[in-house]
Amino acid sequence: MIILKSKQEIEAIRKSCQVVAECHRTIAPLIQPGITTNEIDRIFEELMAKYGATPYQKGYRGYRYATCASPNDVIAHGFPSDTPLKEGDIVTIDTVAELDGWLGDSAWSYAVGQISPTAEKLMRVTKECLDLGIEQARPGNRLGDVTNAIQQHAERQGFGVVRDLLAHGIGRDLHEAPTYMHVGKPGKGVLLKEGMVFTIEPMITEGTYELVIDSDGWTARTLDGKLSAQYEHTIAITAEGPQILTAQ
Ligand code: MF3
Ligand code: CO
Repeated sequence: MIILKSKQEIEAIRKSCQVVAECHRTIAPLIQPGITTNEIDRIFEELMAKYGATPYQKGYRGYRYATCASPNDVIAHGFPSDTPLKEGDIVTIDTVAELDGWLGDSAWSYAVGQISPTAEKLMRVTKECLDLGIEQARPGNRLGDVTNAIQQHAERQGFGVVRDLLAHGIGRDLHEAPTYMHVGKPGKGVLLKEGMVFTIEPMITEGTYELVIDSDGWTARTLDGKLSAQYEHTIAITAEGPQILTAQ
């Protein structure tokens, strides 16, 4: 069952989402060769505390960190570590803040110093996929309109769309209905209605979209070891169209 949110509830969710947005705004200029993802994790946690929020991912299903830090071939759910990021890496930082019982979720890919033209193109196309998906997220459209826009754009550029990790409704719980893959057909799937709040979070790969999970039970990597990027916003469907609650 999809839980529709009132205008007041959407404003409450926007507050937790804006804590996440502030974390990303803060970290963006700090992502340089030499910084570790553990340092990034600590900055996110401190910022959340400053705003009276808590890092929802910490303790969620046994996950131990405030952020997921997913470099290069890691698609998602990588653990922050003490390994310094190095020139040419790309890294996705994903986090969920809880404020007054409401959740906000946003992931962003970052370039570490100068990156390869391929990495640059992958990041650009992935962000475009998110934007094209969001454009379709309005009342009367269906989820298939959102996911098809994403899939078409990624595949036309020769990239893959990860199937095995899903986007989700969000509110008081992290994974509400609808859960969905970022691929689909126009006019198919869940009918979008005012009051729906969900993530759009395409994970786009340089090569195959198939993934493997490390023996740690979390870290999802591309099967072929090629790059993956991800941009994620929490959005609300309103009569006026999509609202990006985690807008930076
Ligand atoms: N933020 C993730 C998402 O986009 C969920 C992270 S799973 C966790 O759906 F265990 F790390 F919390
Ligand atoms: Co996320």
